[in-house]
Amino acid sequence: MTDRHIRTEDLTLLEQAALLSGADVWQTRALPRVGVPAVWMSDGPHGLRKQERDADHLGLGESEPAVCFPTAATVANTWDEDLAEEIGRALGREAACKGVHMLLGPGLNIKRSPLGGRNFEYFSEDPELSGRLAAAYVRGIQSEGVAATPKHFAVNSQELRRLVSDSVVDERTLRELYLTGFEIVVREAAPWAIMSSYNLVNGTYTHENAHLLTDILRQEWGFDGVVVSDWGGSNDPVAAVAAGGTLEMPSPGFSSARLIVSAVQNGNLAAVDLHDRVDEVLTLTRRVNRHPHTAPVDASDIAHHALARRAAAEGTVLLRNENSILPIASGTRVALVGAFAVAPRYQGAGSSVVNPTRLTNLRDAIEQTTLTLSGYAPGYRLDGSADDALLQEAAHTALDADVAVVAVGIPDADETEGRDRPHLRLPQPQVEALRAVAATGTPVVVVLAGGGPVEVPWLNETTALLHCYLGGQAGAEAVWDVLTGHVNPGGRLAETMPMHVEDAPASAEFPSDRRTAEYREALYVGYRYHTSTGIAPAFPFGFGLSYTRFVYSDLHVTNTEARFTVTNVGERAGSDVAQVYVRRLSPSGVPRPDRELKGFTKVRLKSGERSTVVVPLGERTFRFFDVRTSTWQVEEGDYEILVGPHSADLPLAATLHVTGTVPAGEVDQALAAYAEGDVHRVPDAAFAALLGRELPTQGWAAPPFDRDTPIDQLRRSPSRLVRFAFRFLERAKRRADAQPYPDLSMAFIFHGPLRTLDKMTDGTFTPEFTEAMILIADGNVARGLWQAARAYLAGRRAELRTRQELASGSP
Ligand code: BGC
Repeated sequence: MTDRHIRTEDLTLLEQAALLSGADVWQTRALPRVGVPAVWMSDGPHGLRKQERDADHLGLGESEPAVCFPTAATVANTWDEDLAEEIGRALGREAACKGVHMLLGPGLNIKRSPLGGRNFEYFSEDPELSGRLAAAYVRGIQSEGVAATPKHFAVNSQELRRLVSDSVVDERTLRELYLTGFEIVVREAAPWAIMSSYNLVNGTYTHENAHLLTDILRQEWGFDGVVVSDWGGSNDPVAAVAAGGTLEMPSPGFSSARLIVSAVQNGNLAAVDLHDRVDEVLTLTRRVNRHPHTAPVDASDIAHHALARRAAAEGTVLLRNENSILPIASGTRVALVGAFAVAPRYQGAGSSVVNPTRLTNLRDAIEQTTLTLSGYAPGYRLDGSADDALLQEAAHTALDADVAVVAVGIPDADETEGRDRPHLRLPQPQVEALRAVAATGTPVVVVLAGGGPVEVPWLNETTALLHCYLGGQAGAEAVWDVLTGHVNPGGRLAETMPMHVEDAPASAEFPSDRRTAEYREALYVGYRYHTSTGIAPAFPFGFGLSYTRFVYSDLHVTNTEARFTVTNVGERAGSDVAQVYVRRLSPSGVPRPDRELKGFTKVRLKSGERSTVVVPLGERTFRFFDVRTSTWQVEEGDYEILVGPHSADLPLAATLHVTGTVPAGEVDQALAAYAEGDVHRVPDAAFAALLGRELPTQGWAAPPFDRDTPIDQLRRSPSRLVRFAFRFLERAKRRADAQPYPDLSMAFIFHGPLRTLDKMTDGTFTPEFTEAMILIADGNVARGLWQAARAYLAGRRAELRTRQELASGSP
């Protein structure tokens, strides 16, 4: 806690403005004159990434060791809010032990396409599940006096050109699909901070989007914390302050502060808006715990490693188990195949990267079991190149075993911040290794690692398939826990696994290469699409097998709850996730997916045990966002409440008449294309009707360029010199892309906008310098160079002056 209650009025105008941008990569500005302390931030969503030196926002530099928990995609499979809260508490505790005041997570973007490069960091394709799990993390983190920062707000579903991509989405889809998760977090867990996303939404950067930040986030949901920009994601600092964006990170030097000061002095920014933002920062400095915990880090390491192991086991999804080959009996001779069994995939690349305190792998961890390792063979190369000798060795190793456990997975390079996945296939050499082992006749148990779905054309060649997602540092121990039956698999898919990537409706144009990413598929994402169109996925949303069986019966519904019985009719104790979906039966004035998840409960039952489960039906159960009145409404009419173990198996159903707040509307014929959910090729007119306006221009503006022009567009510069220089950059990018491990800074620079020059360089370059660079890019090379030199020198002087003024407290 700060010693005394510092008020905005105690600060000079410059001090106020200076508080709204970072001091460096990880800290807010302290104001020693008035006693305002700095707030220290660190990633991230599944473990602490505290950096003292080598600070960077892409996970490139070294960070202090911390427990690497399973990523959000894995924890989402548990559907377990208590477990999520426990992980949140552990994250908060580790942060507090290291003097970190604000943790940059959890991430809860909706998985619009399975190709999203950062999907491994996010929970689900469904907002109810995402929001409730994220709220649990936030409660846990903040219980330790550390601010949680749910991110990235909002509609940030692709990595390609994420700093300049404009998500074009209709208001109803925005509210019902992309914002509902955030609404749940804000209303139910009151985070002290939230991170705006890099992209624009409907033409306005999120960090300066008054509709998102003021109308919805603050006024409608009652958020009273700090909105921090994503790193380098702020654009116009004055517009941000007016719109509700509080803090710009990392440090643009003092250039944003100077712009804010002059905007207030010129009457272009209301002082009251500035005061509101400053109050938000001061409130944050008061809220966070300033006394680092002194708990011995070793003790929490042991406990947190055990928690990470439990979470990884609970998040593992059993997708196939022919002849009940699993669990594997004690004493079984197991052949282990796959390079991932020694070099595990356990997290993705980018800002969420954790430097784990320890790391287990399948080959070592089998020693902790009562199984017998008959042999190990790598089977394939991690760099994706073919190697016949490895295939033969794998087959030979499998030959005399009772069972072959084959570890395969999504390559590192395909799961990273800054790049989307190119496809959903496993590398061919991995598939060949799997087939070579299967050809021996030894039953194949596939252990799949990766933070999302893969296509499974090889499924019939396996006897069992376990999707372990990304299990964190204890993931390998967790896999054996499940394979040996020590843990009965309770994981249920938090996203659809499509048969083919083309089945995912957004995939036709994902990631969008254009200025705009058009969300034409509207609400029909994931299971909402599959259940509406009848296109069968490989494995549906909510699916997962167990070593026991559950039976659902006796559904009774009222307007406030669904009550039913779940019985464990199998031989072992286990858990299931009882899922409640709602379907509109009466005609509706708006197109609706066939069913939508509205509630769920994790049920744990001993063999033969039964339990009465009550799932509340609340405010969100029947509502839809009425774009004509900009309000939430409930259409009068009949609804079906569907209950069961997953989205495609809902054995219980009951009809409920709901009085509603509005009568059922007339279907708008212009939206007929949406009625059946057939959204693969939505015509322009239908999408425009949904948006309620004309479609925005999609292309990149030709020169003259501006601050938002991505550097990759410099190939179109009228200057031969610039085009020549660009070719070098392009070549370097190609070389970087060919590496097995992605060079994230190259991707960031190559697809980033020109403004990153002044936004990410801590005052070394100013916006005037960027303007000079734009002149050069536009072909005015000599004038641009001259201006650049002048801007550089003027910028250095201005930075020095501002620093002195701030230190002296001069008004
Ligand atoms: C990521 C954020 C992260 C920030 C700081 C950005 O590149 O998008 O999720 O919190 O860097 O590392």
